Amino acid sequence: MNSQQIDLAARGEQTEHSYLLGRLRGLVRGQQTEILAYDDPRILLDALTLELRNGIYWDVVEAGPPVWRVRVRRREDVAASDLVDLLTRDHVRVDHLFATALHRSNAGDMDTALAHFRVYAACLRRHVEAENDLVVPVLSLPRSARGDDPTSIMLREHEEIIEHTVMIEEMLDEGMDDAGMLAPFFAIISGQLAKHEWREENNLFPHWMRALRHEPAIADELFPRVQGLVRAGDEAAATLGIE
Ligand SMILES: [Fe+2]
Ligand SMILES: [Fe+2]
Repeated sequence: MNSQQIDLAARGEQTEHSYLLGRLRGLVRGQQTEILAYDDPRILLDALTLELRNGIYWDVVEAGPPVWRVRVRRREDVAASDLVDLLTRDHVRVDHLFATALHRSNAGDMDTALAHFRVYAACLRRHVEAENDLVVPVLSLPRSARGDDPTSIMLREHEEIIEHTVMIEEMLDEGMDDAGMLAPFFAIISGQLAKHEWREENNLFPHWMRALRHEPAIADELFPRVQGLVRAGDEAAATLGIE
């Protein structure tokens, strides 16, 4: 693995936050970096991990004082460590499949677009099944009668996204594969997906993470079941040559 070092003493006028953010944004797969810090950097790294959409994984190699050494790798280079991590990574994959379908459709490359769309739809269903049928029933988060709690919002948004996905599938099954005709439906899903995943990662996953930390037996039981669904998505994605 290609490795480098970031010494926070060398950041000059920049704050530790902006210096590290700039450097860690450039981290690529197969690369690892060691940060040398002179104060406890864990809170800062938690914040950066969120800002980089969970794209990095870090572990403390040597705890100071005086010097902290922290190893940072791309999240994809490390096996998923918990349920929320697994689902967040799956968001990135579902997004990527859908974005590829959208871009190829806009470019008029319908064969590639539709192949990606079909795999997106399969992965989306498995993802929604994991969240709705495996996680929600065992993590009893408070629900409001008005339906404005994070769980109710998630369930409603899943229904809407699946509904629009099914509309496109039905059009394709009837042979309507014209890019111009599909474009408005692709645009709707694109907006829905981005908002939904953002809301889930920011409003719901922190509650799930807390609940699972308090119920390790449930966490241990859920993880392999959700992993099974995500792995089935891996097989579908592999048919497109995607990892
Ligand atoms: Fe999700
Ligand atoms: Fe979701």
